[in-house]
Amino acid sequence: MAEMADSAPASVSITSALDPTTTDLLVIPVFEQDDPQSVAGLPTALVEEWTQALERRESKGAVLEIVPLGPSAGSPRTLLVGAGARDRFGSDIARRIGGVAGMTARQRRAPRVALVLRGSGIDAAPDRHPLRVVQAFVEGALLAAVENGLHKSTPAETGTLDAVTVVIPQELAPLDEAGRAAERGRILADATNDARMLANEPSNILTPTVFAERVSARLAGSGLTVDVLDETQIAALGMGLLLGVARGSAEPPRLIAVRYEPAGAPANVRLGLVGKGITFDTGGISIKPADGMEKMKVDMAGGAAVVSAIHALARLRTPIAAVAVVPCTENMPGGRAIKPGDVLRGASGKTVEVVNTDAEGRLVLGDGLWYARELGATHLVDVATLTGACVIALGRSTTGLFGRPDDWVARVRDAAALAGERAWPMPVYDDYLEQLKSDVADMSNTGGRPAGAITAAVFLKQFTGELPWAHLDIAGTAWSDEPKPWLAKGATGSAVRTLVELGLSMAV
Ligand code: BES
Ligand code: MN
Ligand code: ZN
Repeated sequence: MAEMADSAPASVSITSALDPTTTDLLVIPVFEQDDPQSVAGLPTALVEEWTQALERRESKGAVLEIVPLGPSAGSPRTLLVGAGARDRFGSDIARRIGGVAGMTARQRRAPRVALVLRGSGIDAAPDRHPLRVVQAFVEGALLAAVENGLHKSTPAETGTLDAVTVVIPQELAPLDEAGRAAERGRILADATNDARMLANEPSNILTPTVFAERVSARLAGSGLTVDVLDETQIAALGMGLLLGVARGSAEPPRLIAVRYEPAGAPANVRLGLVGKGITFDTGGISIKPADGMEKMKVDMAGGAAVVSAIHALARLRTPIAAVAVVPCTENMPGGRAIKPGDVLRGASGKTVEVVNTDAEGRLVLGDGLWYARELGATHLVDVATLTGACVIALGRSTTGLFGRPDDWVARVRDAAALAGERAWPMPVYDDYLEQLKSDVADMSNTGGRPAGAITAAVFLKQFTGELPWAHLDIAGTAWSDEPKPWLAKGATGSAVRTLVELGLSMAV
């Protein structure tokens, strides 16, 4: 991860006038019923070609429809990318168009790409603001830099993305503000890509120890304090839930704790981010079926998300204090592994009967949430690939959102919407506690099949004290098996941008 991000190869810039001589790929978002004359400064040959494509009904402006034009004298290779109805265009579609631009730039070996900002009949909706569109273009384009093929001995034969320029008509946004929006887009993309790189790593390479080392290396010099607790320190804090899960593995556990304390931040607010850091989940003694188990290397994606998000908050100099906590271990069925029926005591003092060793995420998060409160968190958000039940409920595009009180959950939901990440609220009524009853301990770690994503969330709720708390179940969204025209397959970096937008929203 040390090689990523700050040093991300692509330079990002904005300009008020397209320079065809320094552009290898020009990307123009095209609306339904569009008019080529409405884009100022285009080479004449290009306007003609676009007009012909319209006349042929080849370009209709349907979302992500792609029409290649040129290159011809005076105009570079160009893509018209459908942007849909003008009055519905916003950062969501812009991010995907940016992704198409970045992917095409690499595939077609067109390293310098320019994207044209279009007026969209803008209303007051925050995600439709031109500055949001600039940010989303940059995010999308830079997200194209990460591929899943980390360990191929012959790297994939693709080109590089060297420069991203957003062409901004003066009347749409002041250039200095647009520059800041582009910079925000770069930092959000870097953080998302960092999280993707980590989650794409196989578990034999990214052990808990290596995970902690990579995070320390990546965050060094960013003004953040990174503490990595080893087994002895974890034991001294009484984290029996984390230690219990770690017992079955030959790899020692780690607890990563990152603190961000900007000068001048309000003293009474500290955002506490907690991420599940299971570097591989076999299920333990309640072992998983072999089919698809290789995907369980992604079970630390929540942990990767929270450390990447706090890094972005620091790079953006967000004036708000935050901590990120990641309990890291493998979940393995070793000879010393915990067994169904075993009882563990976490650092909070609560005891848990482990009915199913595959419900390990909630165990390590119980201690993680407790530790975030110890570090002074006033508002909690946890992120975890927690339940298969969430995938059944919401599928692969939407993250499960849980928590209380409603206004805190709504804040997280708004942040997700602004970030272009789908998240949908689910209930955490105490009625569900019924399902977590244990005869021998304070509670069981499983609640049976009904409402499996909710009972997992309600389990976590027991470790949040009275604090505002939200839980993002990213089991469905952390990994994509299908390559998209705007994103490679593999780890997605789910929740990173939501967390950063949340932090930014708390600072205003
Ligand atoms: N890491 C899994 C959840 C998961 C499933 C993540 C699919 C990504 C894709 C989690 O630790 C788990 O095994 N959950 C169990 C809980 C059950 C035993 C109560 C599950 O969902 O089956
Ligand atoms: Mn599991
Ligand atoms: Zn798991």
